[in-house]
Amino acid sequence: MSSIVYLNGQFLPRSEAKLSVDERAFFFGDGIYEVTRAIGGRLFEWARHLRRLERGLREMRLTPSITGEELESISLRLLRDNDLTDGEAAVYLEVTRGAAPRTHHFPPPGTPCTIFLSATRLTLPHEVRAKGGTAVTFPDFRWARGDIKSLNLIPSVLAKQHAVDYGATEAIFVRDGAMTEGSHTNVFGVLDGELRTYPESNYILAGITRDVVLELAAELGISVRQMPIFTHEFPHLEELFITGTTSDVMPIVALNGLPVGDGHPGRITMSLYEALVPRLAATGAAATV
Ligand code: PDD
Repeated sequence: MSSIVYLNGQFLPRSEAKLSVDERAFFFGDGIYEVTRAIGGRLFEWARHLRRLERGLREMRLTPSITGEELESISLRLLRDNDLTDGEAAVYLEVTRGAAPRTHHFPPPGTPCTIFLSATRLTLPHEVRAKGGTAVTFPDFRWARGDIKSLNLIPSVLAKQHAVDYGATEAIFVRDGAMTEGSHTNVFGVLDGELRTYPESNYILAGITRDVVLELAAELGISVRQMPIFTHEFPHLEELFITGTTSDVMPIVALNGLPVGDGHPGRITMSLYEALVPRLAATGAAATV
């Protein structure tokens, strides 16, 4: 059975959702996206996702004719229409500069943005978490606006395939001798008992899970510094983990084939994961549709 998706004002079977070959996402990757976690048919941290989306729209000079409330209610309807009101799901949302004859500059005024949303079942890699995942590094040759969740994801695609080729869970980008983030995750490490992560800046995406983990660390009294982890520090990492909507908090127990710490999921990592679980569960229990 084909799932129901939303495209430009219509709810329709995925197989019937069609885009123009003049779509600017196809020519240029000219758009942005969000992936929002859903638990029990409710959206996790929707307000933060919307804030990030609205900021991205401003930075990209995109002006879709739709409100945040409408995007939320479309998301919730997709969860219902696709029988995803129990358990875990992910809502994918994309806004592009629309379809128009190919020019590098913006299309004529009045060209409507393309708006697409879909909801799918989310299966989290719990068995990987139990023993810990692995990571390999990859050069961060991305543009310097990683803070915008743009559709131009070629470096992330190549990085993640590099990880797959080496049997690793994730690829971690390295720029100017420091780890920035993963192909689709943020990265944290523990050095001298202190939690470190790349500072929020134009070089990384301010992940929603990253934000929540920073809050949880403060609640747990874990000392945190937003400071890069440099390559010369890799051998001294006591713990390493990645965060993201599709990964939660995922321990990384080997980096480039070498064990991190004692080669097992770390204590601070797992305490943060255990603190995240009730936060996620509360979404399913408490929000209103
Ligand atoms: N990616 N960094 C990058 C480059 C990402 O693409 C993502 C998310 C994150 C984590 O952000 P969040 O915690 O808000 O999911 C960090 C999504 C899930 C994706 O591309 O599928």
